[in-house]
Amino acid sequence: MKFKKIRIYTQYLIASRNLFALYLLSLAFVSIIYSCFVVYIYPKYYKYIEDVYTQRSTEAAGGLSRAFIGPGHLSLLPFPADIEASIKRVVSSGLILKVKVFDLNGKCLFSTQVSDVGTIHEGDEFKRIVATGMSYSKVVRKSGTSLEGEVATIDVSETYVPVFVDGKVFCVFEVYADVSHEQRGIQNLAFTSLGVISILMIFGWIFFTYLMARLALVERKRTKLDKILKRKNANLNERVSYQKDEIEVGHQIAVKALATLAEYNDTDTGSHLNRTKHYVVALATELSRTGKYSCSVNERPVMIEELGLASLLHDIGKVAIPKEILAKPEHLTSDEFNLMQKHSVVAGEILGKANALYREQFGEDSYLALAQEIALYHHERWDGKGYPVGLTNTDIPLSARIVAIADVYDALRSQRPYKAPWTHEKALREIVSGRNSQFDPTVVDAFVSVQKEFDDIFENK
Ligand SMILES: [Fe+2]
Repeated sequence: MKFKKIRIYTQYLIASRNLFALYLLSLAFVSIIYSCFVVYIYPKYYKYIEDVYTQRSTEAAGGLSRAFIGPGHLSLLPFPADIEASIKRVVSSGLILKVKVFDLNGKCLFSTQVSDVGTIHEGDEFKRIVATGMSYSKVVRKSGTSLEGEVATIDVSETYVPVFVDGKVFCVFEVYADVSHEQRGIQNLAFTSLGVISILMIFGWIFFTYLMARLALVERKRTKLDKILKRKNANLNERVSYQKDEIEVGHQIAVKALATLAEYNDTDTGSHLNRTKHYVVALATELSRTGKYSCSVNERPVMIEELGLASLLHDIGKVAIPKEILAKPEHLTSDEFNLMQKHSVVAGEILGKANALYREQFGEDSYLALAQEIALYHHERWDGKGYPVGLTNTDIPLSARIVAIADVYDALRSQRPYKAPWTHEKALREIVSGRNSQFDPTVVDAFVSVQKEFDDIFENK
Protein backbone atom coordinates (compact mmCIF):
# COMPACT_ATOMS: atom_id res chain seq x y z
CA MET A 1 0.00 0.00 0.00
CA LYS A 2 2.83 2.35 0.95
CA PHE A 3 4.73 1.62 -2.26
CA LYS A 4 1.60 2.24 -4.26
CA LYS A 5 1.20 5.62 -2.53
CA ILE A 6 4.82 6.53 -3.20
CA ARG A 7 4.42 5.54 -6.86
CA ILE A 8 1.31 7.71 -7.16
CA TYR A 9 3.08 10.61 -5.42
CA THR A 10 6.04 10.30 -7.80
CA GLN A 11 3.85 10.20 -10.88
CA TYR A 12 1.99 13.31 -9.85
CA LEU A 13 5.14 15.12 -8.80
CA ILE A 14 6.83 14.41 -12.13
CA ALA A 15 3.77 15.71 -13.89
CA SER A 16 3.70 18.80 -11.70
CA ARG A 17 5.09 21.77 -13.56
CA ASN A 18 4.65 23.96 -10.50
CA LEU A 19 7.15 21.96 -8.52
CA PHE A 20 9.85 22.19 -11.18
CA ALA A 21 9.10 25.86 -11.58
CA LEU A 22 9.67 26.27 -7.83
CA TYR A 23 12.99 24.40 -8.00
CA LEU A 24 14.18 26.55 -10.89
CA LEU A 25 13.05 29.68 -9.08
CA SER A 26 14.95 28.63 -5.95
CA LEU A 27 18.12 27.96 -7.91
CA ALA A 28 17.79 31.30 -9.61
CA PHE A 29 17.32 32.95 -6.20
CA VAL A 30 20.46 31.32 -4.74
CA SER A 31 22.43 32.29 -7.85
CA ILE A 32 21.29 35.89 -7.50
CA ILE A 33 22.30 35.96 -3.81
CA TYR A 34 25.71 34.48 -4.64
CA SER A 35 26.21 36.90 -7.53
CA CYS A 36 25.37 39.77 -5.18
CA PHE A 37 28.15 38.61 -2.86
CA VAL A 38 30.66 38.27 -5.69
CA VAL A 39 29.77 41.36 -7.65
CA TYR A 40 28.69 43.79 -4.96
CA ILE A 41 29.37 42.80 -1.34
CA TYR A 42 32.94 41.39 -1.73
CA PRO A 43 34.41 44.44 -3.60
CA LYS A 44 32.64 46.83 -1.25
CA TYR A 45 34.00 44.99 1.75
CA TYR A 46 37.58 44.95 0.43
CA LYS A 47 37.34 48.64 -0.33
CA TYR A 48 36.15 49.11 3.25
CA ILE A 49 39.14 47.12 4.56
CA GLU A 50 41.53 49.19 2.46
CA ASP A 51 40.00 52.40 3.78
CA VAL A 52 40.13 51.20 7.39
CA TYR A 53 43.76 50.08 7.15
CA THR A 54 44.85 53.21 5.32
CA GLN A 55 43.30 55.18 8.14
CA ARG A 56 44.88 53.03 10.84
CA SER A 57 48.31 52.93 9.13
CA THR A 58 48.21 56.67 8.58
CA GLU A 59 47.45 57.20 12.25
CA ALA A 60 50.20 54.75 13.30
CA ALA A 61 52.76 56.30 10.97
CA GLY A 62 51.72 59.79 12.08
CA GLY A 63 52.19 58.83 15.76
CA LEU A 64 55.56 57.25 15.12
CA SER A 65 56.78 60.06 12.91
CA ARG A 66 55.90 62.68 15.51
CA ALA A 67 58.17 60.88 17.96
CA PHE A 68 60.74 60.30 15.22
CA ILE A 69 61.05 63.89 14.10
CA GLY A 70 60.75 65.36 17.57
CA PRO A 71 63.51 67.37 19.27
CA GLY A 72 66.84 65.57 18.95
CA HIS A 73 65.64 63.32 16.13
CA LEU A 74 66.02 65.57 13.10
CA SER A 75 68.07 63.09 11.05
CA LEU A 76 67.08 59.65 9.82
CA LEU A 77 70.28 57.89 10.83
CA PRO A 78 71.20 56.50 13.19
CA PHE A 79 67.64 55.25 13.68
CA PRO A 80 66.46 56.30 17.14
CA ALA A 81 66.39 53.36 19.57
CA ASP A 82 63.22 54.55 21.35
CA ILE A 83 61.37 54.84 18.03
CA GLU A 84 62.55 51.37 17.06
CA ALA A 85 61.32 50.03 20.39
CA SER A 86 57.92 51.70 19.87
CA ILE A 87 57.59 50.20 16.38
CA LYS A 88 58.54 46.75 17.58
CA ARG A 89 55.97 46.97 20.37
CA VAL A 90 53.25 47.71 17.82
CA VAL A 91 54.42 44.87 15.58
CA SER A 92 54.50 42.42 18.50
CA SER A 93 50.77 43.11 19.10
CA GLY A 94 50.12 40.94 16.03
CA LEU A 95 47.97 43.38 14.01
CA ILE A 96 50.96 44.98 12.24
CA LEU A 97 53.18 42.50 10.40
CA LYS A 98 56.02 44.76 9.36
CA VAL A 99 57.01 48.42 9.41
CA LYS A 100 59.59 50.00 7.11
CA VAL A 101 60.93 53.51 6.83
CA PHE A 102 62.25 54.78 3.47
CA ASP A 103 64.20 57.90 2.61
CA LEU A 104 63.10 59.97 -0.37
CA ASN A 105 65.30 57.89 -2.72
CA GLY A 106 63.51 54.68 -1.76
CA LYS A 107 66.31 53.30 0.39
CA CYS A 108 65.09 51.26 3.35
CA LEU A 109 66.57 52.86 6.44
CA PHE A 110 64.69 50.77 8.95
CA SER A 111 62.61 47.58 8.93
CA THR A 112 61.26 45.29 11.62
CA GLN A 113 62.68 42.62 9.30
CA VAL A 114 66.39 43.40 9.47
CA SER A 115 67.25 41.88 6.06
CA ASP A 116 65.16 44.65 4.35
CA VAL A 117 67.47 47.42 5.61
CA GLY A 118 69.50 48.90 2.79
CA THR A 119 67.30 47.62 -0.05
CA ILE A 120 66.06 50.15 -2.62
CA HIS A 121 62.40 50.65 -3.52
CA GLU A 122 62.38 51.58 -7.20
CA GLY A 123 58.70 51.31 -7.99
CA ASP A 124 56.97 54.17 -9.86
CA GLU A 125 54.20 54.18 -7.29
CA PHE A 126 56.76 54.98 -4.54
CA LYS A 127 58.09 57.92 -6.61
CA ARG A 128 54.55 59.17 -7.06
CA ILE A 129 53.96 58.99 -3.27
CA VAL A 130 57.11 61.05 -2.67
CA ALA A 131 56.23 63.53 -5.41
CA THR A 132 52.58 64.04 -4.43
CA GLY A 133 52.78 63.40 -0.69
CA MET A 134 49.61 61.26 -1.01
CA SER A 135 49.11 58.08 1.03
CA TYR A 136 48.70 54.79 -0.78
CA SER A 137 47.02 51.63 0.41
CA LYS A 138 45.83 48.39 -1.11
CA VAL A 139 44.90 44.87 0.01
CA VAL A 140 47.25 42.23 -1.39
CA ARG A 141 45.56 38.86 -1.54
CA LYS A 142 47.34 35.68 -0.57
CA SER A 143 49.88 34.77 -3.36
CA GLY A 144 49.54 38.32 -4.73
CA THR A 145 52.52 40.66 -5.20
CA SER A 146 53.16 43.83 -3.22
CA LEU A 147 54.49 47.07 -4.73
CA GLU A 148 57.99 45.97 -3.75
CA GLY A 149 57.55 42.65 -5.56
CA GLU A 150 57.11 40.53 -2.44
CA VAL A 151 54.71 37.57 -2.68
CA ALA A 152 52.13 37.65 0.12
CA THR A 153 51.67 34.43 2.12
CA ILE A 154 48.43 35.70 3.64
CA ASP A 155 45.98 38.52 2.89
CA VAL A 156 47.71 41.79 3.88
CA SER A 157 47.14 45.48 3.52
CA GLU A 158 50.13 47.45 2.22
CA THR A 159 50.04 51.11 3.21
CA TYR A 160 52.54 53.91 2.45
CA VAL A 161 52.30 57.09 4.52
CA PRO A 162 54.56 60.09 3.72
CA VAL A 163 55.88 61.99 6.80
CA PHE A 164 56.11 65.79 6.44
CA VAL A 165 58.64 68.19 8.01
CA ASP A 166 58.18 71.90 7.34
CA GLY A 167 55.57 71.13 4.67
CA LYS A 168 57.87 68.80 2.72
CA VAL A 169 57.99 65.02 2.52
CA PHE A 170 60.74 63.95 4.90
CA CYS A 171 60.47 60.18 4.75
CA VAL A 172 57.91 57.43 3.95
CA PHE A 173 56.56 54.86 6.40
CA GLU A 174 55.33 51.54 5.06
CA VAL A 175 53.03 49.35 7.13
CA TYR A 176 52.00 45.76 6.35
CA ALA A 177 48.92 44.65 8.32
CA ASP A 178 47.33 41.22 8.56
CA VAL A 179 43.82 41.31 7.10
CA SER A 180 43.40 37.56 6.68
CA HIS A 181 40.98 37.43 9.62
CA GLU A 182 38.86 40.06 7.85
CA GLN A 183 38.95 37.93 4.71
CA ARG A 184 37.91 34.90 6.72
CA GLY A 185 35.14 36.99 8.27
CA ILE A 186 33.63 37.92 4.94
CA GLN A 187 34.03 34.36 3.68
CA ASN A 188 32.37 33.03 6.81
CA LEU A 189 29.58 35.55 6.39
CA ALA A 190 29.11 34.53 2.77
CA PHE A 191 29.17 30.82 3.49
CA THR A 192 26.93 31.18 6.53
CA SER A 193 24.42 33.25 4.57
CA LEU A 194 24.43 30.87 1.64
CA GLY A 195 24.24 27.92 4.02
CA VAL A 196 21.24 29.37 5.86
CA ILE A 197 19.52 30.27 2.60
CA SER A 198 20.22 26.81 1.18
CA ILE A 199 18.89 25.07 4.29
CA LEU A 200 15.76 27.23 4.23
CA MET A 201 15.43 26.45 0.52
CA ILE A 202 15.77 22.72 1.11
CA PHE A 203 13.17 22.85 3.88
CA GLY A 204 10.97 24.87 1.53
CA TRP A 205 11.40 22.26 -1.19
CA ILE A 206 10.66 19.41 1.18
CA PHE A 207 7.57 21.19 2.52
CA PHE A 208 6.32 22.15 -0.95
CA THR A 209 7.02 18.68 -2.31
CA TYR A 210 5.06 17.19 0.58
CA LEU A 211 2.25 19.67 0.00
CA MET A 212 2.14 18.86 -3.71
CA ALA A 213 2.13 15.17 -2.95
CA ARG A 214 -0.81 15.60 -0.55
CA LEU A 215 -2.63 17.71 -3.11
CA ALA A 216 -1.89 15.08 -5.74
CA LEU A 217 -3.49 12.45 -3.53
CA VAL A 218 -6.53 14.64 -2.89
CA GLU A 219 -6.77 15.37 -6.63
CA ARG A 220 -6.58 11.66 -7.38
CA LYS A 221 -9.35 10.91 -4.89
CA ARG A 222 -11.44 13.73 -6.36
CA THR A 223 -10.93 12.42 -9.90
CA LYS A 224 -11.93 8.97 -8.74
CA LEU A 225 -15.07 10.35 -7.06
CA ASP A 226 -15.84 12.39 -10.20
CA LYS A 227 -15.66 9.26 -12.30
CA ILE A 228 -17.96 7.37 -9.94
CA LEU A 229 -20.35 10.33 -9.86
CA LYS A 230 -20.33 10.65 -13.65
CA ARG A 231 -20.99 6.94 -14.02
CA LYS A 232 -23.87 7.15 -11.54
CA ASN A 233 -25.21 10.29 -13.23
CA ALA A 234 -25.02 8.59 -16.62
CA ASN A 235 -27.00 5.65 -15.25
CA LEU A 236 -29.45 8.02 -13.62
CA ASN A 237 -29.83 10.09 -16.82
CA GLU A 238 -30.38 6.89 -18.76
CA ARG A 239 -33.06 5.79 -16.33
CA VAL A 240 -34.68 9.22 -16.25
CA SER A 241 -34.60 9.41 -20.05
CA TYR A 242 -36.11 5.93 -20.32
CA GLN A 243 -38.83 6.74 -17.81
CA LYS A 244 -39.53 10.06 -19.57
CA ASP A 245 -39.92 8.21 -22.89
CA GLU A 246 -42.11 5.66 -21.16
CA ILE A 247 -44.36 8.39 -19.73
CA GLU A 248 -44.51 10.31 -23.02
CA VAL A 249 -45.31 7.27 -25.12
CA GLY A 250 -47.86 6.08 -22.56
CA HIS A 251 -49.39 9.54 -22.54
CA GLN A 252 -49.61 9.70 -26.35
CA ILE A 253 -51.21 6.25 -26.45
CA ALA A 254 -53.72 7.34 -23.80
CA VAL A 255 -54.54 10.52 -25.76
CA LYS A 256 -54.97 8.52 -28.99
CA ALA A 257 -57.15 5.99 -27.20
CA LEU A 258 -59.28 8.77 -25.75
CA ALA A 259 -59.64 10.49 -29.11
CA THR A 260 -60.45 7.21 -30.85
CA LEU A 261 -63.04 6.40 -28.20
CA ALA A 262 -64.70 9.77 -28.75
CA GLU A 263 -64.97 9.03 -32.47
CA TYR A 264 -66.10 5.48 -31.91
CA ASN A 265 -69.55 6.22 -33.20
CA ASP A 266 -68.32 8.50 -35.95
CA THR A 267 -67.53 7.44 -39.46
CA ASP A 268 -63.99 8.70 -38.98
CA THR A 269 -61.32 6.17 -38.03
CA GLY A 270 -58.14 6.17 -35.92
CA SER A 271 -56.25 6.65 -39.20
CA HIS A 272 -58.02 9.99 -39.69
CA LEU A 273 -56.65 11.18 -36.33
CA ASN A 274 -53.17 9.92 -37.12
CA ARG A 275 -53.18 11.58 -40.56
CA THR A 276 -54.53 14.84 -39.10
CA LYS A 277 -51.62 14.89 -36.71
CA HIS A 278 -49.14 14.47 -39.59
CA TYR A 279 -50.86 17.15 -41.73
CA VAL A 280 -50.70 19.57 -38.80
CA VAL A 281 -47.00 18.87 -38.18
CA ALA A 282 -46.24 19.35 -41.91
CA LEU A 283 -48.17 22.64 -42.07
CA ALA A 284 -46.70 23.99 -38.80
CA THR A 285 -43.17 23.07 -39.89
CA GLU A 286 -43.66 24.94 -43.17
CA LEU A 287 -45.05 27.98 -41.33
CA SER A 288 -42.11 27.93 -38.88
CA ARG A 289 -39.55 28.22 -41.69
CA THR A 290 -40.57 31.65 -42.96
CA GLY A 291 -43.41 34.15 -43.11
CA LYS A 292 -45.40 36.08 -40.59
CA TYR A 293 -46.30 33.07 -38.41
CA SER A 294 -42.75 31.74 -37.96
CA CYS A 295 -42.32 33.55 -34.61
CA SER A 296 -45.61 32.18 -33.25
CA VAL A 297 -44.82 28.61 -34.28
CA ASN A 298 -41.26 28.88 -32.92
CA GLU A 299 -42.48 30.40 -29.65
CA ARG A 300 -41.54 27.19 -27.81
CA PRO A 301 -39.18 24.41 -28.96
CA VAL A 302 -41.91 21.78 -28.52
CA MET A 303 -44.67 23.86 -30.12
CA ILE A 304 -44.95 21.77 -33.32
CA GLU A 305 -44.87 18.50 -31.38
CA GLU A 306 -47.57 19.80 -29.02
CA LEU A 307 -49.71 21.01 -31.94
CA GLY A 308 -49.57 17.51 -33.42
CA LEU A 309 -50.57 15.90 -30.12
CA ALA A 310 -53.29 18.46 -29.37
CA SER A 311 -54.78 18.02 -32.86
CA LEU A 312 -55.64 14.39 -31.96
CA LEU A 313 -58.27 15.71 -29.57
CA HIS A 314 -59.98 18.16 -31.97
CA ASP A 315 -63.18 16.14 -32.24
CA ILE A 316 -63.26 14.68 -28.74
CA GLY A 317 -66.57 16.50 -28.19
CA LYS A 318 -68.29 14.07 -30.56
CA VAL A 319 -68.63 11.80 -27.56
CA ALA A 320 -71.66 13.92 -26.65
CA ILE A 321 -73.30 13.65 -30.10
CA PRO A 322 -75.84 10.86 -30.71
CA LYS A 323 -74.67 7.99 -32.91
CA GLU A 324 -77.63 8.43 -35.27
CA ILE A 325 -76.51 11.95 -36.17
CA LEU A 326 -72.85 11.03 -36.53
CA ALA A 327 -73.61 8.04 -38.79
CA LYS A 328 -76.49 9.57 -40.75
CA PRO A 329 -75.85 9.01 -44.49
CA GLU A 330 -78.05 11.92 -45.60
CA HIS A 331 -77.49 15.60 -45.02
CA LEU A 332 -78.36 16.72 -41.49
CA THR A 333 -81.45 18.73 -40.71
CA SER A 334 -81.05 22.18 -39.25
CA ASP A 335 -81.65 20.94 -35.69
CA GLU A 336 -79.32 18.02 -36.18
CA PHE A 337 -76.65 20.33 -37.49
CA ASN A 338 -77.10 22.64 -34.52
CA LEU A 339 -76.64 19.66 -32.22
CA MET A 340 -73.67 18.49 -34.22
CA GLN A 341 -72.03 21.91 -33.80
CA LYS A 342 -72.06 21.47 -30.06
CA HIS A 343 -69.18 18.94 -30.28
CA SER A 344 -66.66 21.78 -30.43
CA VAL A 345 -68.11 23.50 -27.34
CA VAL A 346 -68.25 20.25 -25.39
CA ALA A 347 -64.64 19.48 -26.30
CA GLY A 348 -63.60 23.02 -25.35
CA GLU A 349 -65.20 22.59 -21.93
CA ILE A 350 -63.70 19.16 -21.26
CA LEU A 351 -60.21 20.16 -22.31
CA GLY A 352 -60.45 23.55 -20.57
CA LYS A 353 -61.23 21.82 -17.28
CA ALA A 354 -58.40 19.35 -17.82
CA ASN A 355 -55.94 22.18 -18.48
CA ALA A 356 -57.18 24.06 -15.38
CA LEU A 357 -56.37 21.00 -13.26
CA TYR A 358 -52.90 20.88 -14.77
CA ARG A 359 -52.34 24.60 -14.18
CA GLU A 360 -53.50 24.23 -10.59
CA GLN A 361 -50.91 21.48 -10.08
CA PHE A 362 -47.95 22.93 -12.02
CA GLY A 363 -48.70 26.65 -12.28
CA GLU A 364 -48.67 26.79 -16.09
CA ASP A 365 -50.66 25.68 -19.14
CA SER A 366 -50.03 22.30 -20.75
CA TYR A 367 -50.62 21.26 -24.36
CA LEU A 368 -54.24 20.84 -23.21
CA ALA A 369 -54.65 24.62 -23.56
CA LEU A 370 -53.72 24.24 -27.24
CA ALA A 371 -56.04 21.23 -27.52
CA GLN A 372 -58.85 23.32 -26.01
CA GLU A 373 -58.54 26.18 -28.53
CA ILE A 374 -58.20 23.72 -31.42
CA ALA A 375 -61.27 21.75 -30.38
CA LEU A 376 -63.33 24.87 -29.76
CA TYR A 377 -62.41 26.84 -32.90
CA HIS A 378 -61.45 24.38 -35.65
CA HIS A 379 -64.83 24.95 -37.36
CA GLU A 380 -64.48 28.75 -37.34
CA ARG A 381 -64.00 30.41 -40.75
CA TRP A 382 -61.68 33.23 -41.81
CA ASP A 383 -64.73 35.22 -43.04
CA GLY A 384 -66.59 34.78 -39.73
CA LYS A 385 -69.21 32.34 -41.02
CA GLY A 386 -68.00 29.40 -38.96
CA TYR A 387 -69.10 28.08 -35.58
CA PRO A 388 -69.46 28.02 -32.57
CA VAL A 389 -68.61 31.73 -32.04
CA GLY A 390 -68.21 33.18 -35.55
CA LEU A 391 -64.71 34.56 -34.97
CA THR A 392 -62.97 36.20 -37.94
CA ASN A 393 -59.41 36.41 -39.27
CA THR A 394 -56.67 36.32 -36.66
CA ASP A 395 -59.18 36.30 -33.80
CA ILE A 396 -59.29 32.57 -34.54
CA PRO A 397 -56.27 30.97 -32.84
CA LEU A 398 -53.54 29.99 -35.34
CA SER A 399 -53.61 26.40 -34.05
CA ALA A 400 -57.29 26.12 -35.00
CA ARG A 401 -56.70 27.69 -38.45
CA ILE A 402 -54.03 25.05 -39.12
CA VAL A 403 -56.17 22.13 -37.93
CA ALA A 404 -59.14 23.45 -39.98
CA ILE A 405 -57.24 22.85 -43.26
CA ALA A 406 -55.88 19.47 -42.11
CA ASP A 407 -59.35 18.33 -41.00
CA VAL A 408 -61.13 19.45 -44.17
CA TYR A 409 -58.43 18.01 -46.48
CA ASP A 410 -58.72 14.58 -44.85
CA ALA A 411 -62.53 14.71 -44.88
CA LEU A 412 -62.52 15.56 -48.60
CA ARG A 413 -60.13 12.73 -49.42
CA SER A 414 -62.07 10.19 -47.30
CA GLN A 415 -65.13 8.06 -48.05
CA ARG A 416 -68.23 9.31 -46.22
CA PRO A 417 -71.79 7.87 -46.09
CA TYR A 418 -72.94 10.92 -48.01
CA LYS A 419 -69.99 11.29 -50.49
CA ALA A 420 -67.33 9.51 -52.46
CA PRO A 421 -63.61 10.18 -51.79
CA TRP A 422 -62.03 13.08 -53.69
CA THR A 423 -58.77 13.05 -55.52
CA HIS A 424 -55.86 15.04 -54.14
CA GLU A 425 -56.10 17.56 -56.98
CA LYS A 426 -59.81 18.14 -56.38
CA ALA A 427 -59.27 18.52 -52.61
CA LEU A 428 -56.36 20.89 -53.31
CA ARG A 429 -58.53 23.07 -55.58
CA GLU A 430 -61.33 23.11 -53.00
CA ILE A 431 -59.04 24.33 -50.23
CA VAL A 432 -57.36 26.91 -52.46
CA SER A 433 -60.83 28.16 -53.44
CA GLY A 434 -61.52 28.69 -49.74
CA ARG A 435 -58.43 30.98 -49.41
CA ASN A 436 -59.50 34.22 -47.76
CA SER A 437 -63.06 32.97 -47.17
CA GLN A 438 -63.05 29.71 -45.26
CA PHE A 439 -59.32 29.55 -44.55
CA ASP A 440 -56.46 31.82 -43.52
CA PRO A 441 -54.70 32.75 -46.83
CA THR A 442 -51.23 32.43 -45.26
CA VAL A 443 -51.97 28.92 -44.01
CA VAL A 444 -53.46 28.01 -47.42
CA ASP A 445 -50.22 29.20 -49.08
CA ALA A 446 -48.23 26.99 -46.70
CA PHE A 447 -50.59 24.11 -47.51
CA VAL A 448 -49.95 24.63 -51.25
CA SER A 449 -46.21 24.48 -50.56
CA VAL A 450 -46.51 21.13 -48.79
CA GLN A 451 -49.56 19.72 -50.65
CA LYS A 452 -47.49 16.85 -52.06
CA GLU A 453 -46.64 15.87 -48.49
CA PHE A 454 -50.38 15.92 -47.64
CA ASP A 455 -51.04 13.50 -50.50
CA ASP A 456 -48.21 11.20 -49.31
CA ILE A 457 -49.60 11.25 -45.77
CA PHE A 458 -53.07 10.36 -46.96
CA GLU A 459 -51.80 7.54 -49.16
CA ASN A 460 -49.37 6.04 -46.67
CA LYS A 461 -50.54 6.72 -43.11
FE1 LIG B 1 -64.89 18.72 -35.77
